Amino acid sequence: MATGIALVVRVSEGQSPQLVQEQLPLPIPGAGQVQVKVSHVAQNPTDVQCFDVNAFGDGAVLGCDFVGEVTELGSGVTCLSRGDIVAGLLWGGRNLSKCEIAGLGGYSEYTVADQRISFKVPSSISKEEASTVPLAAATAWLALFSKGCLNLDRSKATGTSVLVWGGSSSVGLYTIQLASICGFDVVTTCSPRNEDLVRSCGARHVFDYNDPNVIEKVKEVTPKLQHVFDTIGNAKSSSVSSRAFGDREGNLCTVRPGKANTEHVTANTRVTDVLVWTAFLKDHRYAHFHWPASKEDHELANDLFDNLPTWLEQGKIKPNRSKVLHGLGSVTQGFQEYRDGMISAYKIVYEL
Ligand SMILES: NC(=O)c1ccc[n+]([C@@H]2O[C@H](COP(=O)([O-])OP(=O)(O)OC[C@H]3O[C@@H](n4cnc5c(N)ncnc54)[C@H](OP(=O)(O)O)[C@@H]3O)[C@@H](O)[C@H]2O)c1
Repeated sequence: MATGIALVVRVSEGQSPQLVQEQLPLPIPGAGQVQVKVSHVAQNPTDVQCFDVNAFGDGAVLGCDFVGEVTELGSGVTCLSRGDIVAGLLWGGRNLSKCEIAGLGGYSEYTVADQRISFKVPSSISKEEASTVPLAAATAWLALFSKGCLNLDRSKATGTSVLVWGGSSSVGLYTIQLASICGFDVVTTCSPRNEDLVRSCGARHVFDYNDPNVIEKVKEVTPKLQHVFDTIGNAKSSSVSSRAFGDREGNLCTVRPGKANTEHVTANTRVTDVLVWTAFLKDHRYAHFHWPASKEDHELANDLFDNLPTWLEQGKIKPNRSKVLHGLGSVTQGFQEYRDGMISAYKIVYEL
C-alpha cells in the first residue's frame, strides 16, 4: 500500500498531545475531490488552538491551507487535471469523522482538495504565497458577503464604509483587499508599523488600535458607519469596535465562531459570526454550536475561488507575506511563534 509522511497528533493518557511524523495510507479522493502531493502548508491560528486543546483527539492530522500538485482525480472532477498546481482549503483534523478519509490535514505529504474550494495557482505568484490565501481569504469573503454575516450589498458599495478591526492580521489583509476590489471604503486598525502595508492593500483610513482616542478618530472619518468586521475577536476588540457606531444601529461580524467575547458590545449592535467551514456544503457541529449546511455560503465561496486566479494574476489581491520554515519537523517551532504572539502581518508557511 502506498503511504506518505504526515504529522499526526498523538495523545497518551495524562500527557500533553505530541506531533509525531508517521507514514499514513494515501488519501483516496472522493466525488469532486482531487488527491494532492503537498509542497507547502500555511499555518493558521486554528491549527495551534485545536492542537493545544486537543480538539480532535488521537490520530488527527491538522492543517487547513495547502498548495501542491494534483496526483489523482476523484469522480466528477471537471475543473482540475493531474499535474495542476492547486491551493486548497480543508478543515484539518476535523476530517477524521467516520464519513471522511483519515489523515486529510495539510501537515501531510498527501491530502485532498475539493475542486470547488481550491484554485489553480497562477504563475505570477509563488507556491508559498499561494498557500496563505485559501482560509484567510475565504473567511474575509464570507464575513463580508454571507447572509449570515455582514451581508454587504455589492451594488451599493460606493460611499459605504466598512471598519476592519485588525487590518494587519491575515484575515484582515484579505478583507481590506476584497472589500476594496468591490468598491467599499475601508477604515482599519493596526499597529503603526503596519500602516503602509494596510494602505497598500486599499485601506483609506488607518488608526492604531492602542490609541486611546481610536474610536473618536474612526467616527470622525466615517460618521455613518454601519458595518464592522472584527478579525481579532479577543476579550475587548468587539466591544471597543462596536462603539464606532455611536448611537446608530450597526452590524458587527466577529471572527470568533459562537460569538464569544461579544457580550459587551453596545446595545445598538447586531452581532453575527463567521465560520469559514460553511464554504463546504456540510453540516458543522463544534461543542454545542451547530452550523447547518449552507448552499448560499458554498456558492459564495466557490465564486471567490473562481475569481482568485485572475485577481492574483492581475495583482488586485496581493498574498500575505510569508515566512518559510522547512519540513514538518519545524511545525512545533511555528506553533510556538504563534503562542508567543510574534506573528504580525505575516504567515508561517512550511515547505515540505
Ligand atoms: N471563524 C473563522 O472561521 C475563522 C477563520 C480564520 C481565522 N479565525 C480567527 O481569526 C483570528 C485572526 O486570524 P489570523 O490568521 O488573521 O491571525 P494573525 O494574522 O495571526 O493575527 C495577527 C495580527 O493580529 C493583530 N492584532 C493583535 N491584537 C490586535 C488587537 N487587539 N487589535 C487589532 N489587531 C490586533 C496584529 O496586528 P499588529 O501586528 O499590527 O499589531 C497581527 O498582525 C484568529 O483568532 C483565528 O483563530 C477565525
